[in-house]
Amino acid sequence: MLITNIKGLVGLHPKDKLVLRGAELNHLPVLENAWILIEDGLIKDFGEMKHFPSSIAHLPSYSAEGRYVFPSWCDSHTHIVFAASREEEFAMKIQGKTYEEIAAAGGGILNSANKLQKATEDELFESAATRLKQMILQGTGAVEIKSGYGLTTESEIKMLRVIRRLKAHFSIPIKATFLAAHAFPAEFKDDHQGYISLIIEEMLPRIAEEKLADYIDAFCEKGFFSVEETDQILKAGAKYGLKPKIHANQLSVSGAIEVAVKNKAISVDHLEESNPETIETLRNADTIVTLLPSCSFYLGIPFADAKSFIKAGLPVALATDYNPGSTPSGNMNFVVSLGCIKMKMFPEQAINAATLNGAAAMELSNSHGSIAIGKNANLFITKPMPSIAYLPYSFGESQVDTVILNGEIYHG
Ligand code: NIG
Ligand code: FE
Repeated sequence: MLITNIKGLVGLHPKDKLVLRGAELNHLPVLENAWILIEDGLIKDFGEMKHFPSSIAHLPSYSAEGRYVFPSWCDSHTHIVFAASREEEFAMKIQGKTYEEIAAAGGGILNSANKLQKATEDELFESAATRLKQMILQGTGAVEIKSGYGLTTESEIKMLRVIRRLKAHFSIPIKATFLAAHAFPAEFKDDHQGYISLIIEEMLPRIAEEKLADYIDAFCEKGFFSVEETDQILKAGAKYGLKPKIHANQLSVSGAIEVAVKNKAISVDHLEESNPETIETLRNADTIVTLLPSCSFYLGIPFADAKSFIKAGLPVALATDYNPGSTPSGNMNFVVSLGCIKMKMFPEQAINAATLNGAAAMELSNSHGSIAIGKNANLFITKPMPSIAYLPYSFGESQVDTVILNGEIYHG
């Protein structure tokens, strides 16, 4: 496939640039008036129209006049396998109930778990596939998906098998994360150690045997999993080669960052709450800081302090957190807008965070997340736009026109 007359080819980071830290996020390399050649699903070559090689002039081409070509969004934090939406909680939220109050009243994660336990694998696959298709049409070309609404051995495995089926069905890379430590099931409310033993002694060995997970996650938070409980689970996961990606500091500064870094987490996600010690801990680590502004938007909790994280030289990524309870949206375009509008990220920073650093948070940045020769051709072509900043500026609208996966147009 050949695309010509491109107004701007966006995100041309060198192939060996695998993550962008701090001020590096300010720089989003763009080639204006460009062409790109894709072969066998990979980016073969690109250049300026004024140096268009005559050797490829005979190839059929797609003209992208007035349009930009972006690397696909890399959404490194989602929970898209779920049985039912939770808009009944939406009304409670509007009445002023907090996330914790809704959970305590029988809503929240346990509500989703009840419904998921009753759903069949086929039903879960169908609804998750519908969500994923919609996300891809909105420009997402790599995704991480968590379990965590099962909360029993069979149901956690059921969720992870659904993710395995999604991997087989879709041509984008998908990473699976085991998140049994999402909430304590009612029967373990007063027996935390009992549930942790179930995770460690029963769930983990079976998941490892079936090779169902790439990562392990825990919701380390007051009222959910303590630092000590999280530590136990992460250490057990490490024995099976599962690296951590942690729900950290969503509702309070909890020690989650420290336990995550100590266990060599790939990413810490959320960080709506933070303090100078949080930043100090992260400064000396390779852990990626994944921010989820559409969760803040929906729950009405603070937005993460992206500017301070970037100023401290940290590698910030952006993701959706698509789930039925705190973020019923998988739209990365909106996430990038919120990154700019609510977290005061510059468009370049937000776009880098949603592409290359998102890929890094899934250990995919050697093949995805930027436009470089030899990288995978997961891209999107925008509608005609006056500038790159127009994409986050025009919030709530999608500027994504044509989605290309592995060098082929994706129609859904
Ligand atoms: O990332 N914080 C924990 N997990 C999800 C929400 C889960 C739910 O409410 O269903 C999150 O926000
Ligand atoms: Fe989440």
